[in-house]
Amino acid sequence: MKTLDVIVHAISPAGTTGTSRSYELRAAAGSTLSSFEAGAHNDVHLGPSLVRRYSLCNSPQDKGRYLIRVRRDDAGRGGSRALHRDLTVGGRLRISPPRNHFPLVAAERHVLVAGGIVTPLLSTAEAPAARGASFVLHHYTSGAAGAPLLERLRTSAFAERTGIHHSDQGDSVRAGLPAEPLVPEADTAVHVCGPDGSMTHVVTEATAAGRQPGQLHTERFAPAAPPAAGDEGATEFTVRIARTGIGYPVPADCTIADGLTAPGVEVELSCEQGICDACPTPGLDGEPDHRDEVQTPDERAAGDRITICCSRARTPELLLGL
Ligand code: FES
Repeated sequence: MKTLDVIVHAISPAGTTGTSRSYELRAAAGSTLSSFEAGAHNDVHLGPSLVRRYSLCNSPQDKGRYLIRVRRDDAGRGGSRALHRDLTVGGRLRISPPRNHFPLVAAERHVLVAGGIVTPLLSTAEAPAARGASFVLHHYTSGAAGAPLLERLRTSAFAERTGIHHSDQGDSVRAGLPAEPLVPEADTAVHVCGPDGSMTHVVTEATAAGRQPGQLHTERFAPAAPPAAGDEGATEFTVRIARTGIGYPVPADCTIADGLTAPGVEVELSCEQGICDACPTPGLDGEPDHRDEVQTPDERAAGDRITICCSRARTPELLLGL
């Protein structure tokens, strides 16, 4: 897994709640920042098994630095708390080069819906705005105080095409969506990011209104829900290692990595959430049940790499190139 070292050049508060900060990252000596496209993110390596994904919220034209925004989640698993607590100006970080699982797809018209977090769609909105393309952005927040990038949206070049909705004023995703995601026009792409529940709601409503699956694009920042006994397809399967020929049982509520590590098979893992790209493993036979956020739809369809930390199998046996 390729990584590079960066220096924290500046830290600034984002919003007024004190829970969000912007971090400006610049190349450390010997490193070079590669360019990126709207929708890209970095994986930030905070320690063993502690990798977090943060969207780049500066413009792709803004060379020489990466800007990420981190909201401290006191109920989370520790990544954002560690960043807020330990990172100071001048500190070093190890990050992945920018990767993009949420590019702006080609379409006549774009509808962007951001629930809770607008960061992944900020630079995405700037691209169609800059070329005068047709688009609208709807940003859903819990309330004005919890929306750190509100001022940037209000003063942006696309402010007139931005709708801001605060759920503490009764204007939430569930209270009612605006017309744009629901009107099934041809040649329109709908990009949705935010909490799982919000995204699922938008996608469900848009699909019910006649949008085709190929028009709906989402990005998740949390792992897919772990398998649970009783889920559709949640049955035990066997994962077999090509080098030794030995098969290991993977119980209905476990991942491939669980099935391998329990009997002592060593595999390379890092985030263990399907977001860092440390564990994709060659798949030689059997049908994977991909549950990661690492691979693109095309890579998943190819089926020759499996993110074992979170994925499972749809067939009774899966043969891995280990
Ligand atoms: S360990 Fe990070 S994607 Fe599997």
